Amino acid sequence: MLPLTRRNLLKAAAVGGAYASGVALAPGITRALAGATTDPLLLEAYELTAMIDGKAPSKGVMSYRTSASPADVAPPVLRARRGEPFSVRFENLLQEPTTVHWHGLRIANAMDGVPFLTQPYVYPGDGFDYTFTPPDAGTFWYHPHCNTLTQIGRGLAGMFVVEDPNDPVFDGEIALNLRDWRLGGNSQFIAQFKARDAAKAGTFGTVRTANWQVEPSYDAPAGGLIRLRLLASDVTRIFNLRLAGAEAVIVAIDGQPVPSIMPLDMAVVSPGQRLDLVLRMPDDEGATVVIEDVRPSTPKTVARLRAVGASLKRSLGDVPPLAANPQAEPDLSTATEVPLILSATAEQAAKDSICGSLGYSFWAINKVPYPGDSADPMAPLAEMKRGRTYVFNLENVTPHAHPIHLHGMNFKVISSSTRKVLPLVSDTYLVLPDEKVQLAVVADNPGDWVLHCHIIEHQKTGMTSFVRVV
Ligand code: C2O
Ligand code: CU
Repeated sequence: MLPLTRRNLLKAAAVGGAYASGVALAPGITRALAGATTDPLLLEAYELTAMIDGKAPSKGVMSYRTSASPADVAPPVLRARRGEPFSVRFENLLQEPTTVHWHGLRIANAMDGVPFLTQPYVYPGDGFDYTFTPPDAGTFWYHPHCNTLTQIGRGLAGMFVVEDPNDPVFDGEIALNLRDWRLGGNSQFIAQFKARDAAKAGTFGTVRTANWQVEPSYDAPAGGLIRLRLLASDVTRIFNLRLAGAEAVIVAIDGQPVPSIMPLDMAVVSPGQRLDLVLRMPDDEGATVVIEDVRPSTPKTVARLRAVGASLKRSLGDVPPLAANPQAEPDLSTATEVPLILSATAEQAAKDSICGSLGYSFWAINKVPYPGDSADPMAPLAEMKRGRTYVFNLENVTPHAHPIHLHGMNFKVISSSTRKVLPLVSDTYLVLPDEKVQLAVVADNPGDWVLHCHIIEHQKTGMTSFVRVV
C-alpha cells in the first residue's frame, strides 16, 4: 500500500476518485457543482410531508432541492470550487417570504441574504439570483435569514462545501448535518419554542437526527481515512462530539484549516459551527464507529460508520494539512476596540420585526435588545474602516453560552479570560458564561454585516445587530 502522501492522494483526485473503492456517496451528498461552465443551478425552497422520526410522516416540513438532488428529502450538499464563480437561481415555493444566507462564506454583501439589510425578501412565488466566488475552501452552510426559527426549525439548512483542487483526497467523505426536530408523539410539529426556555439556553428538539435520519449508518472502507464534515445546524443544541471505535484528528473548524492538526478527544460544536475530522476506520470488516454526543452526560448516538472491505491499512499520522485559505493578518498594534456586552434584558415587550417576532425580548447587545433575526437598518454597533483591524471585546454577563456569528468576514481568536484559546480563524465563537473574549477582525469586506447569537431564539429575542464596513 502506498503511503498516504498528498501526492499519492492527488492521483486519485479526479471527481469521484475518492469514492472509487466501491463506497457509495452517503445520502445527502450530491455533486451539484455549478460554475461558469454550466447553467446556474436551480435551488428551490418548498414544503413537504416527510418521514423524520421513523414512525409517521410529519406535515409542514420545509426543505431545499435542486435538479440534481438525490431521492432523499434533506437539503442537498451544495458544492463549489474555491476561486470559481458559483451561481444559483433560488426560487421560493413556500407560503412565506424567505432569503438564503451563505453562512461562513466571505462574499459580496449583496449576496449575503439578510432581508432589507442586503436584499429584499424573496416573496412566495418569486426568486433571487445568488452569484459569488467563494474565497475560502471548506465546510460551510446555507439557511434562511427570515422567520428563521420556524424555517430552520422545519428543515431549511443545508451544507455548502467549497473544494480546493489542492486539498488532499481521502478514501471517502461523509457529510453529516446534525439537527433536532420539535415533534410530538403523533410525529407532527409542536410549538417551536417555550418562552421560559428562550430566556435560558433555548428550547430543545424532541427528535435528534443526522441527515434527517435517526441514527443513520454509513459504510466506509476498512482501515481507510475518511473525511467527516459535521455541521451543527440545530437552532438550539450545543454538541459535545466524540468517536467511539476509531481515532480521529481535527483538520478544520468552521471551514478553516486548524493551525496544526490535532487529535480529537471531544469537540464542542455549537449552532452554526462546523467540524472537519479525518478518522481512521477499523481494520475489521463489519466493525462500527459510533459518533456520539455526550452533552450533558449520557452518550447519544448521532450516526454510525461500518467498515467494509479489506483493510486499506492507512495511518492517521499521514494525514496532510488542508490547503490554506487566504486571510489578512490583523494588525493588533493599530486596532480599534469594540465593546460588545452580551446580556439579558428586562425589557419584555418585543418590538415588531420584519421577519416575524417571537413576542418577547430577552437578550441584548450593549444593553439594546434588537428586534428579530434581521436587524432593522438602524445605527450599526460599529462603523469600521475598510482595511483596518478591530478587536471585538465580547463579554458574556449571562449564565448561558452564546455562539456569536459574524457575517461576511472572519475573525481570529486572540484571548479569553477563562480558557486557553488557539489562534483559530472562524465565523462563530461560543462565548461561555462569564467569559470575556477578544476577536480580531480585519474589516476587509464592505457592507452591513449582521452579528448575532446562533441560538435562534436568542437571535430572535434581542441578540442580533450589525456592523458596518465603509
Ligand atoms: Cu448562520 Cu446570520 O447566520
Ligand atoms: Cu445566545
